[in-house]
Amino acid sequence: MRKVPTTSAPMKAMDILGGFSAVIASNSCIEELEKSFAEYVGVKHCLAVNKGTAALYLAIMAMKKLSDKTEVILPAYTVPTLTLAMNMAGLKTKLCDISLETFNMEPESLKGHLSKKTLCVVPVHMFGFPCELKEIKKTCQDMKAFMLEDPAQAMGAELDGKKVGAYGDAALFSLCKGKVISTFSGGFAVTDNDELALLMRAERDKLPLNKKRFANPLLLFAFAFAMRPFIYGTMYPFIERFKSTEVHEHFFPEKYTEFQAAVGLKLLQRLDDVVEKRIRIGKAMYDALNGYDWIILPKIVPGSKPVFNHLPVVFKDASRFQKVMKSLWQRGIDTARMYMRPIHHIYDLGYGCNPDPFPNATYVAERLLTLPSHPYMTDADVEKIIDAFRKA
Ligand SMILES: Cc1ncc(COP(=O)(O)O)c(C=O)c1O
Repeated sequence: MRKVPTTSAPMKAMDILGGFSAVIASNSCIEELEKSFAEYVGVKHCLAVNKGTAALYLAIMAMKKLSDKTEVILPAYTVPTLTLAMNMAGLKTKLCDISLETFNMEPESLKGHLSKKTLCVVPVHMFGFPCELKEIKKTCQDMKAFMLEDPAQAMGAELDGKKVGAYGDAALFSLCKGKVISTFSGGFAVTDNDELALLMRAERDKLPLNKKRFANPLLLFAFAFAMRPFIYGTMYPFIERFKSTEVHEHFFPEKYTEFQAAVGLKLLQRLDDVVEKRIRIGKAMYDALNGYDWIILPKIVPGSKPVFNHLPVVFKDASRFQKVMKSLWQRGIDTARMYMRPIHHIYDLGYGCNPDPFPNATYVAERLLTLPSHPYMTDADVEKIIDAFRKA
């Protein structure tokens, strides 16, 4: 009955009970968590909100106040709903292609899409793999555009010994369900820039209270319970109903909650351990699958330490895709397709699709399977995954 879920962020009953006792004692956990997380990343400021997308919104609203530029560049393959933050801020989303080597923003493609109107560029460290940040940062500096890192999937990853999120003018992290650690929902906007921090704080203070503040403890508890392999397998027909592939048209930036912050503080204490486990599991699969010529794994950028939020696999040979997916399921391993379409196929941003302006993004979206690499996995699970590819 055991099934390994595609994502899982470990949580103990004590973490949740700690959340309740902090709320009863009226501790100010949000401020403490913000301070601790800023220290963890190695920056001066952190602001917590209800979602990573809301953190993006705070950062671009602050940047907008310092410039009259109007465009934000995203990689064409990433979480599509990031564009909703731009819509809400009254900014235009522009795209650039990704690299088939790294699955992240392609620095050369970026150069072709930057203009005098570019307010900021958002390099996303997809799947926990740091992007080619030095090249991207240099391009942003040349064009006097802000660089707003998105390590939502890469909390704890590093480049040249420094945490990702500390390279940009600002960065956004997410604490939603599929991330390295999770409080069911939540996000952090971080920056080392005092001026941006002040403006971001002003935006955050205007946000309404979290509508789910009373439901959050229950949601968090259900999530922590359901993401354990034995429960996930036993209750799969029920849990499956809550899996959504729907693309949202709206998002609501709100404040974070004290309860989640209290749980977040406990999780932050264990973050290094979670990161280390993810790397051990992810690296074992990466090394074993690296030789197959019918798949592509993302290149590890020199000097970087990926955190393996997932292990993404792109199938050059599409005929083996379903076969591997099915065989993994039969071995008790769930997998995901992540975002099945690139952003320009989902929202009308003024790009046509014929010829496809961002072919690498489309190629990856159509052929990508993500393998789990979370701390609830055992060595036997890793071996089952490796074996499924060996026999495909
Ligand atoms: C790369 C990336 N950026 C941003 C976000 C947005 O985070 P949230 O869902 O907390 O708004 C996500 C979440 O899926 C993500 O994966």
